[in-house]
Amino acid sequence: MKKVNIKTLQQKKGQEKIVMITAYDALFAKLFAPYVDIILVGDSLNMVFAGEEDTLSATMEQMLYHTKAVCKGAKESFILFDMPYGSYIDKKIALKNALKVYKNSCADAIKLEGGKEKAKIVKHLVKNGIAVCGHIGLMPQNVRGEGGYRVVKDRKKLLEDAKALEDAGAFMIIVEGVKANLAQEVSEALKIPVVGIGAGADVDGQVLVWSDMLGFFEEFKPKFVRRYLEGATLVKEAVAKFSKDVKEGAFPNKEESY
Ligand code: KIV
Repeated sequence: MKKVNIKTLQQKKGQEKIVMITAYDALFAKLFAPYVDIILVGDSLNMVFAGEEDTLSATMEQMLYHTKAVCKGAKESFILFDMPYGSYIDKKIALKNALKVYKNSCADAIKLEGGKEKAKIVKHLVKNGIAVCGHIGLMPQNVRGEGGYRVVKDRKKLLEDAKALEDAGAFMIIVEGVKANLAQEVSEALKIPVVGIGAGADVDGQVLVWSDMLGFFEEFKPKFVRRYLEGATLVKEAVAKFSKDVKEGAFPNKEESY
């Protein structure tokens, strides 16, 4: 039996913060699992893992492949599957793809980007037994349509979007790239938990992309990221040492040989 489900997550609101991190493979999922409530198989894997410029070319097949790996590594964790761009453009397509997720992986819920305009799709999924997490504010899948990533300041729209998702039956919402006071207002306005990324501290939980949080992504550090490890530096130092040892004949030694 999994330790966390949508009911226990919802009961945390106002009591205890929800902790979420991304993972894309079994190895890291297993390391993260004991310390987090939710593992998100985010479409950010298209950038972090596949080296693409944005998340838009991620496919259902790719997301399922990584989700299956995460499921193997974190058997007891609550796993959230991020629906890739284009996989939920209407009710029929969204349900077909969401059913694919439940039938082919251990994912407990799906996440999709969009507010009011996606409410009918969310309602249809929920009616068919799919647990849905919304994602509003800065929506990375809109990066090309909007010409970049921008912090969201439109209070009215944000509150309307959040309310529409809650009314449609979403069990939780992620709010990204939003002024802290607005995110707080959203959290206070909703009964369901609101998890933030770049949305300040006054929400019901936090999510970070693992490679940002562990310092493996070196190119730049968004303001909202805290690095808990200098992963890239540590890896480079270790591999440089390995290379030096091999070249100098210092690796392997007698104990490391048969
Ligand atoms: O894809 C992802 O990792 C996400 C997080 C940024 C919330 O959607």
